[in-house]
Amino acid sequence: MKKILITGGAGFIGSHVVRLFVTKYRDYHIYNLDALTYAGNLENLTDIEAAPNYTFIKGDITDADFISELFEQHAFEGVIHLAAESHVDRSIEDPLAFVKTNVFGTVNLLNAAKKEWENAFEGKRFYHISTDEVYGSLGAEGLFTETTAYDPNSPYSASKASSDHFVRAYGETYGLPYVLTNCSNNYGPNHFPEKLIPLFIHNIIANKPLPVYGDGNYTRDWLFVEDHARAIDLVFHQGAAQETYNIGGFNEWKNIDLVRLLCSIMDGKLGRRPGKSAELITYVKDRPGHDLRYAIDATKIKEQLGWEPSVTFEQGLEITVNWYLNHPEWLDHVTSGAYLNYYDVKSEE
Ligand code: NAD
Ligand code: TYD
Repeated sequence: MKKILITGGAGFIGSHVVRLFVTKYRDYHIYNLDALTYAGNLENLTDIEAAPNYTFIKGDITDADFISELFEQHAFEGVIHLAAESHVDRSIEDPLAFVKTNVFGTVNLLNAAKKEWENAFEGKRFYHISTDEVYGSLGAEGLFTETTAYDPNSPYSASKASSDHFVRAYGETYGLPYVLTNCSNNYGPNHFPEKLIPLFIHNIIANKPLPVYGDGNYTRDWLFVEDHARAIDLVFHQGAAQETYNIGGFNEWKNIDLVRLLCSIMDGKLGRRPGKSAELITYVKDRPGHDLRYAIDATKIKEQLGWEPSVTFEQGLEITVNWYLNHPEWLDHVTSGAYLNYYDVKSEE
Protein backbone atom coordinates (compact mmCIF):
# COMPACT_ATOMS: atom_id res chain seq x y z
CA MET A 1 0.00 0.00 0.00
CA LYS A 2 1.22 3.46 -0.87
CA LYS A 3 1.66 5.49 2.33
CA ILE A 4 0.67 9.13 2.00
CA LEU A 5 1.08 11.74 4.72
CA ILE A 6 -1.50 14.54 4.72
CA THR A 7 -0.77 17.33 7.22
CA GLY A 8 -3.54 19.55 8.58
CA GLY A 9 -6.18 17.00 7.62
CA ALA A 10 -8.48 17.92 10.51
CA GLY A 11 -8.80 21.48 9.22
CA PHE A 12 -11.17 22.91 6.67
CA ILE A 13 -9.53 22.09 3.32
CA GLY A 14 -7.47 19.21 4.70
CA SER A 15 -10.57 17.30 5.82
CA HIS A 16 -12.00 17.42 2.30
CA VAL A 17 -8.68 16.26 0.86
CA VAL A 18 -8.42 13.40 3.38
CA ARG A 19 -11.99 12.26 2.62
CA LEU A 20 -11.37 12.34 -1.14
CA PHE A 21 -8.15 10.34 -0.89
CA VAL A 22 -9.43 7.79 1.67
CA THR A 23 -12.58 7.05 -0.33
CA LYS A 24 -11.09 7.23 -3.83
CA TYR A 25 -7.77 5.46 -3.32
CA ARG A 26 -8.41 2.24 -1.39
CA ASP A 27 -4.88 1.10 -2.21
CA TYR A 28 -3.35 4.10 -0.40
CA HIS A 29 -2.97 4.34 3.34
CA ILE A 30 -3.67 7.91 4.38
CA TYR A 31 -1.96 9.23 7.52
CA ASN A 32 -3.55 12.43 8.73
CA LEU A 33 -1.08 14.36 10.89
CA ASP A 34 -2.65 17.25 12.78
CA ALA A 35 -1.83 19.10 16.00
CA LEU A 36 -5.55 19.81 16.59
CA THR A 37 -5.11 23.52 17.19
CA TYR A 38 -8.30 25.57 17.55
CA ALA A 39 -8.72 25.08 13.75
CA GLY A 40 -8.44 21.28 13.80
CA ASN A 41 -11.70 19.42 14.29
CA LEU A 42 -11.95 15.63 14.04
CA GLU A 43 -15.72 15.97 13.85
CA ASN A 44 -15.03 16.95 10.21
CA LEU A 45 -14.03 13.33 9.53
CA THR A 46 -16.43 11.14 11.51
CA ASP A 47 -17.73 9.52 8.30
CA ILE A 48 -14.32 8.10 7.35
CA GLU A 49 -12.54 7.75 10.71
CA ALA A 50 -13.07 3.96 10.81
CA ALA A 51 -11.86 3.33 7.24
CA PRO A 52 -9.15 0.62 7.17
CA ASN A 53 -6.88 2.77 5.00
CA TYR A 54 -6.97 5.77 7.36
CA THR A 55 -4.91 6.62 10.45
CA PHE A 56 -5.03 9.80 12.50
CA ILE A 57 -1.82 10.94 14.20
CA LYS A 58 -1.89 13.79 16.68
CA GLY A 59 1.35 15.69 16.34
CA ASP A 60 2.98 19.02 15.72
CA ILE A 61 4.98 19.79 12.58
CA THR A 62 7.15 22.20 14.59
CA ASP A 63 8.56 19.24 16.57
CA ALA A 64 11.59 18.27 14.46
CA ASP A 65 12.45 15.05 16.33
CA PHE A 66 8.89 13.80 16.21
CA ILE A 67 8.60 14.54 12.47
CA SER A 68 11.91 12.89 11.71
CA GLU A 69 10.91 9.73 13.64
CA LEU A 70 7.52 9.66 11.95
CA PHE A 71 9.14 9.59 8.51
CA GLU A 72 11.58 6.87 9.60
CA GLN A 73 8.72 4.81 11.00
CA HIS A 74 6.35 5.02 8.04
CA ALA A 75 8.46 5.56 4.91
CA PHE A 76 5.87 7.81 3.27
CA GLU A 77 5.98 7.97 -0.50
CA GLY A 78 4.12 11.24 -0.74
CA VAL A 79 3.35 14.26 1.41
CA ILE A 80 0.44 16.64 0.93
CA HIS A 81 1.17 19.53 3.25
CA LEU A 82 -1.77 21.66 4.35
CA ALA A 83 -1.06 22.22 8.06
CA ALA A 84 -0.77 25.92 8.71
CA GLU A 85 -1.95 28.84 10.71
CA SER A 86 -4.40 30.25 8.19
CA HIS A 87 -6.22 33.34 9.43
CA VAL A 88 -4.94 36.80 8.44
CA ASP A 89 -6.51 38.55 11.46
CA ARG A 90 -4.80 36.16 13.88
CA SER A 91 -1.49 36.70 12.06
CA ILE A 92 -1.77 40.42 12.76
CA GLU A 93 -2.16 39.65 16.49
CA ASP A 94 0.55 36.96 16.73
CA PRO A 95 2.95 36.83 13.74
CA LEU A 96 5.41 34.46 15.45
CA ALA A 97 2.87 31.65 15.66
CA PHE A 98 2.71 31.88 11.86
CA VAL A 99 6.49 31.85 11.46
CA LYS A 100 6.65 28.82 13.73
CA THR A 101 4.10 26.61 12.02
CA ASN A 102 4.14 27.89 8.45
CA VAL A 103 7.88 28.41 8.02
CA PHE A 104 9.65 26.34 10.67
CA GLY A 105 7.08 23.51 10.47
CA THR A 106 7.35 23.34 6.68
CA VAL A 107 11.15 23.24 6.83
CA ASN A 108 10.95 20.39 9.37
CA LEU A 109 8.83 18.41 6.93
CA LEU A 110 11.19 19.21 4.06
CA ASN A 111 14.17 18.05 6.13
CA ALA A 112 12.47 14.79 7.07
CA ALA A 113 11.39 14.09 3.48
CA LYS A 114 14.86 14.93 2.16
CA LYS A 115 16.52 12.64 4.69
CA GLU A 116 14.16 9.73 4.03
CA TRP A 117 14.11 10.08 0.25
CA GLU A 118 17.65 11.29 -0.38
CA ASN A 119 18.94 8.29 -2.22
CA ALA A 120 15.69 7.42 -3.95
CA PHE A 121 13.72 10.43 -5.13
CA GLU A 122 12.06 8.37 -7.88
CA GLY A 123 8.31 8.09 -7.29
CA LYS A 124 8.35 10.49 -4.32
CA ARG A 125 6.48 13.77 -4.15
CA PHE A 126 6.25 16.66 -1.68
CA TYR A 127 3.13 18.68 -2.40
CA HIS A 128 2.99 22.09 -0.74
CA ILE A 129 -0.42 23.77 -0.57
CA SER A 130 -0.22 27.54 -0.69
CA THR A 131 -2.32 30.62 -1.26
CA ASP A 132 -2.73 33.39 -3.82
CA GLU A 133 -2.11 35.87 -0.98
CA VAL A 134 1.67 35.47 -1.50
CA TYR A 135 1.32 37.60 -4.65
CA GLY A 136 0.11 40.60 -2.65
CA SER A 137 -2.67 42.88 -3.78
CA LEU A 138 -4.01 43.64 -7.27
CA GLY A 139 -5.44 46.99 -8.35
CA ALA A 140 -8.67 47.09 -10.33
CA GLU A 141 -7.13 45.24 -13.30
CA GLY A 142 -5.07 42.10 -13.90
CA LEU A 143 -4.81 38.55 -12.58
CA PHE A 144 -2.16 36.60 -10.65
CA THR A 145 -0.26 34.14 -12.86
CA GLU A 146 2.36 31.59 -11.78
CA THR A 147 5.09 34.10 -12.68
CA THR A 148 3.69 37.07 -10.76
CA ALA A 149 6.36 38.33 -8.34
CA TYR A 150 5.75 37.57 -4.67
CA ASP A 151 4.74 40.66 -2.71
CA PRO A 152 3.08 39.54 0.53
CA ASN A 153 1.52 42.15 2.83
CA SER A 154 0.24 40.33 5.93
CA PRO A 155 2.23 38.23 8.40
CA TYR A 156 0.14 35.26 7.18
CA SER A 157 0.99 35.77 3.51
CA ALA A 158 4.63 36.57 4.36
CA SER A 159 4.92 33.26 6.22
CA LYS A 160 3.29 31.32 3.36
CA ALA A 161 5.55 33.09 0.83
CA SER A 162 8.55 32.10 2.90
CA SER A 163 7.43 28.46 3.05
CA ASP A 164 6.93 28.45 -0.74
CA HIS A 165 10.49 29.74 -1.19
CA PHE A 166 11.84 26.99 1.07
CA VAL A 167 10.01 24.30 -0.91
CA ARG A 168 11.49 25.58 -4.19
CA ALA A 169 14.92 25.95 -2.57
CA TYR A 170 14.85 22.29 -1.48
CA GLY A 171 13.88 21.37 -5.03
CA GLU A 172 16.76 23.36 -6.53
CA THR A 173 19.41 22.62 -3.91
CA TYR A 174 18.74 19.00 -3.02
CA GLY A 175 16.63 17.83 -5.95
CA LEU A 176 13.61 17.19 -3.69
CA PRO A 177 10.66 16.42 -5.99
CA TYR A 178 7.89 18.88 -5.24
CA VAL A 179 4.72 20.41 -6.64
CA LEU A 180 3.22 23.63 -5.36
CA THR A 181 -0.18 25.22 -5.83
CA ASN A 182 -1.44 28.68 -4.96
CA CYS A 183 -5.20 28.75 -4.54
CA SER A 184 -7.72 31.53 -4.10
CA ASN A 185 -10.16 31.86 -1.16
CA ASN A 186 -12.05 28.63 -0.45
CA TYR A 187 -15.54 28.26 0.95
CA GLY A 188 -17.75 25.28 1.77
CA PRO A 189 -18.78 22.89 4.57
CA ASN A 190 -16.58 22.57 7.69
CA HIS A 191 -15.16 26.09 7.35
CA PHE A 192 -14.27 27.53 10.75
CA PRO A 193 -16.54 30.48 11.56
CA GLU A 194 -13.78 33.05 11.86
CA LYS A 195 -13.52 33.48 8.08
CA LEU A 196 -15.96 35.71 6.18
CA ILE A 197 -18.52 33.26 4.74
CA PRO A 198 -18.99 30.85 7.69
CA LEU A 199 -18.84 33.68 10.24
CA PHE A 200 -21.56 35.56 8.42
CA ILE A 201 -23.73 32.45 7.97
CA HIS A 202 -23.40 31.84 11.71
CA ASN A 203 -24.17 35.45 12.61
CA ILE A 204 -27.17 35.63 10.29
CA ILE A 205 -28.63 32.50 11.92
CA ALA A 206 -27.91 33.97 15.39
CA ASN A 207 -29.16 37.46 14.45
CA LYS A 208 -25.80 39.00 15.26
CA PRO A 209 -24.09 41.94 13.49
CA LEU A 210 -22.19 41.21 10.27
CA PRO A 211 -18.87 43.09 10.64
CA VAL A 212 -17.85 44.30 7.16
CA TYR A 213 -14.30 45.68 7.25
CA GLY A 214 -13.80 49.19 5.83
CA ASP A 215 -16.11 50.10 2.97
CA GLY A 216 -16.61 46.46 1.90
CA ASN A 217 -15.14 47.17 -1.55
CA TYR A 218 -12.44 44.51 -1.24
CA THR A 219 -12.45 41.72 -3.81
CA ARG A 220 -11.80 38.01 -3.31
CA ASP A 221 -11.91 35.15 -5.83
CA TRP A 222 -13.96 32.30 -4.32
CA LEU A 223 -13.61 28.57 -4.99
CA PHE A 224 -15.72 25.71 -3.62
CA VAL A 225 -13.55 23.59 -1.32
CA GLU A 226 -14.36 20.27 -3.02
CA ASP A 227 -13.15 21.73 -6.32
CA HIS A 228 -9.89 22.64 -4.61
CA ALA A 229 -9.63 19.07 -3.28
CA ARG A 230 -10.19 17.73 -6.83
CA ALA A 231 -7.44 20.03 -8.12
CA ILE A 232 -5.10 18.78 -5.37
CA ASP A 233 -5.81 15.16 -6.39
CA LEU A 234 -5.03 16.00 -10.01
CA VAL A 235 -1.83 17.94 -9.30
CA PHE A 236 -0.58 15.30 -6.86
CA HIS A 237 -0.97 12.58 -9.49
CA GLN A 238 -0.44 14.40 -12.78
CA GLY A 239 1.29 17.70 -12.08
CA ALA A 240 4.80 18.04 -13.47
CA ALA A 241 7.59 17.83 -10.89
CA GLN A 242 9.07 21.16 -9.74
CA GLU A 243 6.05 23.03 -11.16
CA THR A 244 3.64 25.53 -9.68
CA TYR A 245 -0.03 25.81 -10.59
CA ASN A 246 -2.49 28.53 -9.67
CA ILE A 247 -5.96 27.32 -8.71
CA GLY A 248 -9.05 29.53 -8.90
CA GLY A 249 -12.55 29.64 -10.28
CA PHE A 250 -12.54 33.00 -12.15
CA ASN A 251 -15.10 34.05 -9.56
CA GLU A 252 -14.46 37.51 -8.18
CA TRP A 253 -16.77 39.11 -5.66
CA LYS A 254 -16.63 42.39 -3.80
CA ASN A 255 -17.15 41.58 -0.12
CA ILE A 256 -20.24 43.73 0.19
CA ASP A 257 -21.89 42.17 -2.90
CA LEU A 258 -21.14 38.69 -1.59
CA VAL A 259 -22.53 39.56 1.84
CA ARG A 260 -25.72 40.95 0.29
CA LEU A 261 -26.14 37.76 -1.81
CA LEU A 262 -25.61 35.62 1.29
CA CYS A 263 -28.16 37.69 3.22
CA SER A 264 -30.78 37.25 0.52
CA ILE A 265 -30.17 33.46 0.31
CA MET A 266 -30.44 33.22 4.10
CA ASP A 267 -33.66 35.30 4.17
CA GLY A 268 -35.18 32.69 1.84
CA LYS A 269 -33.89 29.72 3.84
CA LEU A 270 -34.90 31.13 7.22
CA GLY A 271 -38.30 32.38 6.05
CA ARG A 272 -37.39 35.99 6.82
CA ARG A 273 -38.80 38.91 4.86
CA PRO A 274 -36.46 39.99 2.01
CA GLY A 275 -33.91 42.50 3.30
CA LYS A 276 -34.16 41.41 6.95
CA SER A 277 -30.72 39.75 7.25
CA ALA A 278 -29.01 42.64 5.41
CA GLU A 279 -30.07 44.90 8.28
CA LEU A 280 -27.37 43.10 10.30
CA ILE A 281 -24.60 44.53 8.06
CA THR A 282 -22.34 46.73 10.19
CA TYR A 283 -19.34 48.55 8.76
CA VAL A 284 -16.41 48.27 11.16
CA LYS A 285 -12.79 49.46 11.39
CA ASP A 286 -10.71 48.18 8.48
CA ARG A 287 -8.13 45.39 8.75
CA PRO A 288 -4.60 46.90 8.77
CA GLY A 289 -2.73 46.25 5.51
CA HIS A 290 -5.96 44.95 3.93
CA ASP A 291 -5.26 43.65 0.41
CA LEU A 292 -7.62 45.29 -2.07
CA ARG A 293 -8.09 42.52 -4.58
CA TYR A 294 -7.06 38.89 -5.28
CA ALA A 295 -7.83 37.23 -8.61
CA ILE A 296 -6.31 34.07 -10.04
CA ASP A 297 -5.54 33.24 -13.64
CA ALA A 298 -6.12 29.46 -13.63
CA THR A 299 -5.34 28.95 -17.33
CA LYS A 300 -2.28 26.76 -16.74
CA ILE A 301 -4.02 24.08 -14.66
CA LYS A 302 -6.95 24.11 -17.07
CA GLU A 303 -4.85 23.78 -20.22
CA GLN A 304 -2.18 21.41 -18.88
CA LEU A 305 -4.21 19.21 -16.51
CA GLY A 306 -7.78 19.75 -17.68
CA TRP A 307 -9.04 20.98 -14.29
CA GLU A 308 -12.10 23.20 -14.04
CA PRO A 309 -14.46 23.98 -11.17
CA SER A 310 -17.42 21.60 -11.14
CA VAL A 311 -19.93 23.93 -9.50
CA THR A 312 -20.93 27.54 -10.04
CA PHE A 313 -20.69 29.96 -7.13
CA GLU A 314 -24.47 29.98 -6.78
CA GLN A 315 -24.51 26.15 -6.55
CA GLY A 316 -21.57 26.05 -4.14
CA LEU A 317 -23.06 28.69 -1.89
CA GLU A 318 -26.39 26.84 -1.84
CA ILE A 319 -24.61 23.59 -0.81
CA THR A 320 -22.65 25.48 1.84
CA VAL A 321 -25.61 27.30 3.38
CA ASN A 322 -27.64 24.06 3.41
CA TRP A 323 -24.76 22.25 5.10
CA TYR A 324 -24.55 24.80 7.92
CA LEU A 325 -28.33 24.81 8.39
CA ASN A 326 -28.37 20.99 8.48
CA HIS A 327 -25.43 20.72 10.91
CA PRO A 328 -26.35 22.99 13.83
CA GLU A 329 -24.50 20.64 16.19
CA TRP A 330 -21.24 21.21 14.28
CA LEU A 331 -21.61 24.98 14.66
CA ASP A 332 -22.68 24.59 18.32
CA HIS A 333 -19.65 22.44 19.13
CA VAL A 334 -17.30 24.83 17.36
CA THR A 335 -18.70 27.95 18.97
CA SER A 336 -18.88 26.34 22.44
CA GLY A 337 -15.43 24.73 22.15
CA ALA A 338 -16.87 21.22 22.69
CA TYR A 339 -15.18 19.98 19.49
CA LEU A 340 -11.82 20.34 21.24
CA ASN A 341 -12.70 17.34 23.45
CA TYR A 342 -13.53 15.00 20.56
CA TYR A 343 -10.02 13.58 20.33
CA ASP A 344 -9.74 12.93 24.11
CA VAL A 345 -13.10 11.17 24.25
CA LYS A 346 -12.25 9.04 21.18
CA SER A 347 -8.82 8.20 22.61
CA GLU A 348 -10.41 6.94 25.83
CA GLU A 349 -12.86 4.64 23.99
P1 NAD B 1 -7.35 25.54 8.72
O1 NAD B 1 -6.86 26.63 9.62
O2 NAD B 1 -8.81 25.26 8.64
O3 NAD B 1 -6.65 24.16 9.09
C1 NAD B 1 -5.30 24.07 9.41
C2 NAD B 1 -5.06 22.72 10.07
O4 NAD B 1 -3.66 22.62 10.38
C3 NAD B 1 -5.82 22.51 11.38
O5 NAD B 1 -6.41 21.24 11.40
C4 NAD B 1 -4.74 22.64 12.44
O6 NAD B 1 -5.02 21.86 13.62
C5 NAD B 1 -3.53 22.13 11.70
N1 NAD B 1 -2.28 22.67 12.26
C6 NAD B 1 -2.01 23.97 12.56
N2 NAD B 1 -0.77 24.08 13.10
C7 NAD B 1 -0.26 22.82 13.10
C8 NAD B 1 0.99 22.29 13.52
N3 NAD B 1 1.94 23.08 14.04
N4 NAD B 1 1.22 20.97 13.38
C9 NAD B 1 0.25 20.15 12.85
N5 NAD B 1 -0.96 20.62 12.46
C10 NAD B 1 -1.20 21.93 12.57
O7 NAD B 1 -6.74 25.91 7.30
P2 NAD B 1 -7.37 25.69 5.83
O8 NAD B 1 -8.20 26.86 5.51
O9 NAD B 1 -7.91 24.33 5.73
O10 NAD B 1 -6.03 25.80 4.97
C11 NAD B 1 -5.24 24.66 4.70
C12 NAD B 1 -4.05 25.06 3.85
O11 NAD B 1 -4.49 25.64 2.64
C13 NAD B 1 -3.15 26.11 4.51
O12 NAD B 1 -1.81 25.78 4.20
C14 NAD B 1 -3.55 27.40 3.85
O13 NAD B 1 -2.49 28.32 3.82
C15 NAD B 1 -3.92 26.92 2.46
N6 NAD B 1 -4.93 27.73 1.75
C16 NAD B 1 -6.12 28.06 2.37
C17 NAD B 1 -7.07 28.78 1.65
C18 NAD B 1 -8.40 29.13 2.27
O14 NAD B 1 -9.19 29.87 1.67
N7 NAD B 1 -8.75 28.61 3.44
C19 NAD B 1 -6.81 29.19 0.35
C20 NAD B 1 -5.59 28.83 -0.24
C21 NAD B 1 -4.66 28.09 0.47
P1 TYD C 1 -11.18 36.07 5.20
O1 TYD C 1 -12.31 35.11 5.11
O2 TYD C 1 -10.56 36.34 6.53
O3 TYD C 1 -10.09 35.61 4.15
P2 TYD C 1 -8.75 36.39 3.61
O4 TYD C 1 -8.46 37.53 4.51
O5 TYD C 1 -7.73 35.31 3.71
O6 TYD C 1 -9.07 36.81 2.21
O7 TYD C 1 -11.68 37.47 4.63
C1 TYD C 1 -12.23 37.59 3.33
C2 TYD C 1 -12.53 39.06 3.10
O8 TYD C 1 -13.59 39.47 3.99
C3 TYD C 1 -11.36 39.99 3.39
O9 TYD C 1 -11.39 41.08 2.46
C4 TYD C 1 -11.65 40.49 4.80
C5 TYD C 1 -13.17 40.53 4.84
N1 TYD C 1 -13.78 40.29 6.16
C6 TYD C 1 -14.73 41.18 6.67
O10 TYD C 1 -15.08 42.20 6.02
N2 TYD C 1 -15.28 40.92 7.88
C7 TYD C 1 -14.93 39.82 8.62
O11 TYD C 1 -15.46 39.65 9.75
C8 TYD C 1 -13.97 38.91 8.09
C9 TYD C 1 -13.55 37.69 8.87
C10 TYD C 1 -13.42 39.19 6.85
